[in-house]
Amino acid sequence: MKRKNVKKTYPIAVIAGDGTGPEVTAEAIKVLQAVSNVFGFQLNFTRYDFGGERYLKTGEVLPESAFEELRKFKAIFLGAIGHPEVKPGILEKGILLRLRFELEQYINLRPVKLYPGVETPLKDKGPEDIDFVVVRENNEGLYLGAGGFFKKGTPQEIAVQESINTRYGVERCLRYAFDSCRKRNKKKMVTLCGKTNVLTYAFDLWERAFHEIGEKDYPGIKRDYAHVDATCMWMVKNPEYFDVIVTDNMFGDIITDLGAIIQGGMGIAAGGNINPEGTSMFEPIGGSAPKYTGQGKINPLAAISAAQMMLDFLGEEEAADKLEEAIMKTCPHLTSMSAGQMGYSTSEVGDMVVKYVMET
Ligand code: IPM
Ligand code: MN
Repeated sequence: MKRKNVKKTYPIAVIAGDGTGPEVTAEAIKVLQAVSNVFGFQLNFTRYDFGGERYLKTGEVLPESAFEELRKFKAIFLGAIGHPEVKPGILEKGILLRLRFELEQYINLRPVKLYPGVETPLKDKGPEDIDFVVVRENNEGLYLGAGGFFKKGTPQEIAVQESINTRYGVERCLRYAFDSCRKRNKKKMVTLCGKTNVLTYAFDLWERAFHEIGEKDYPGIKRDYAHVDATCMWMVKNPEYFDVIVTDNMFGDIITDLGAIIQGGMGIAAGGNINPEGTSMFEPIGGSAPKYTGQGKINPLAAISAAQMMLDFLGEEEAADKLEEAIMKTCPHLTSMSAGQMGYSTSEVGDMVVKYVMET
């Protein structure tokens, strides 16, 4: 019996979102289409209008049906969420965090890699020094919203915000970090970033789990520990020291902004919200940059890098590698990674990446 040569097809949900989100998403999709043509697979995009505009029009942040629907996709591409006319917190909590939790995207993966030709604020550091990944726990910690007020609005007001850390949640995050480290070609070292000298419950659990799992299942990987404050210092002073950093949700949020700036800033930094067994979501981490909306000035490389991570997650590694190469070839042409200072427009940068993708 003859078998038809059926193209591999991936259903992808697209939430272009607010501000400059749609502009950078358009470039990411343009590039993805070129890559999929070259490598012979197909991406089927379905668009969703979730974001600030929709909320202002309808009063609804996300319809309840969204989660069931989005679960059907292999991946979600997210442009940016955040609208100047919407009170801070509503969209972030109602869309971004809600999706991370409901779809159990328990890892926030943030590569910190300085590409050649990209300027870093770190003196005397280059691409050979800045290349590590942060594995941030993405479903627990302070972000769960446990706590509350007592006597709100009175002089005796009490506000409590608790960090929730489960052995189950911590363990799967640590395992992901060890597994990622195994696949990387660096020094085979995972650094647990915590605060065991003060947060003696939460990070006691993290530290015990780290050593137990590491010793039993990952004997070839070195285990290293650094307090979060010291981690910040080392990221600036000796970024070459790191291979994989694993940490909780809050610390991960903070240190990855530091990571983003040392790799060239929000114009280039991307991240993945990963559910290894389910629907993952990829995003440029820079936000909606409303003041640049519609001007064609914003750098699409962060969104294109998020698309690159998505290809890797889908198992299209060869295509992902080719795209990374194309991004690396594009970087030296830009005079800066910042909006309006690239020397090219948003779509010209997208075109340049496409050109390098098509080159054999
Ligand atoms: C990020 C962002 C989000 C976070 C905000 C927008 C809720 O800062 O993705 O790092 O804190 O996780
Ligand atoms: Mn953040």
